[in-house]
Amino acid sequence: MEQNIAIIGGGNLGQAIANGLLSSGFLPSNLTITRHKTALLSEFKLKGVRVSSNNSEAVSQSDIIIIAVKPYKMASVLEDISKSITNSHLLISVVSDFSIDSINSHLKSTPTVYRAMPNTASSVNESITCIATQKSSESHTNDVISIFNTLGKTIHINEQLMDAATVLGACGIAYVLRFIRGMIQGGIEIGFDAKTATEIATQTVKGASELLLQKGNHPEAEIDKVTTPKGCTIAGLNEMEHQGFSSALIKGIKTSYDNIT
Ligand SMILES: NC(=O)c1ccc[n+]([C@@H]2O[C@H](COP(=O)([O-])OP(=O)(O)OC[C@H]3O[C@@H](n4cnc5c(N)ncnc54)[C@H](OP(=O)(O)O)[C@@H]3O)[C@@H](O)[C@H]2O)c1
Repeated sequence: MEQNIAIIGGGNLGQAIANGLLSSGFLPSNLTITRHKTALLSEFKLKGVRVSSNNSEAVSQSDIIIIAVKPYKMASVLEDISKSITNSHLLISVVSDFSIDSINSHLKSTPTVYRAMPNTASSVNESITCIATQKSSESHTNDVISIFNTLGKTIHINEQLMDAATVLGACGIAYVLRFIRGMIQGGIEIGFDAKTATEIATQTVKGASELLLQKGNHPEAEIDKVTTPKGCTIAGLNEMEHQGFSSALIKGIKTSYDNIT
């Protein structure tokens, strides 16, 4: 990618995006990262990335702007950069719960705006990032996809589904981690030390995901392969369902969705 990119808000996610770009071969000299505490970006400065606390200047020097500040800072950041943003900028917001209409309402010009919702697995390049826009162009969409593909996988969704993407993809990390914690606790109860139980549970979850990703099967088709009639797997699975396993998960997902502010 030839364009200059500015990441406004070099915190956890901003830095994960910067690392993804740099590890995919993006030139450090084409990247600017901003935050107030620029000393915390020294490792990027050493790599040749421009580090600054001047958002307006960073925007003027870049073609693509990625905003990664906390939602309550978004309005003031947009007002800060509004005078430097032009119609030809591509603006990508990873800020949760801040719509494209709200973004446009804080800007004087009309850049192309995308929202993107990655998750914390960005830091290990295994995110699923949902992207959405109102005025899609093939070249902008390709740019956005190629940026977020450096952090994992990217899919294009309707903006109306952005809250659902926040729940299933971003909160989803926490649901799966709680599931893994439950498996570890069960593993300890049946005899493993915590370290061994963790190794078995984490690799089993990774393996189960790969079975679906690589074969494209429905989960139940893979479950059928491990449930011997009258066997221990189906006995345990059915007990989990009697205790409300799938129902608890579905209700939890709906409750998260209902609680997006
Ligand atoms: N973490 C994730 O995986 C994830 C996933 C999906 C979406 N998100 C969204 O991404 C956004 C960032 O999340 P995060 O976890 O990366 O938060 P974070 O670690 O707090 O990063 C935000 C950064 O913004 C900087 N900042 C604050 N005001 C600024 C300003 N006026 N100009 C430039 N930089 C400014 C802060 O640094 P200074 O204090 O030094 O300025 C801070 O480092 C949030 O809106 C969140 O909802 C995060």
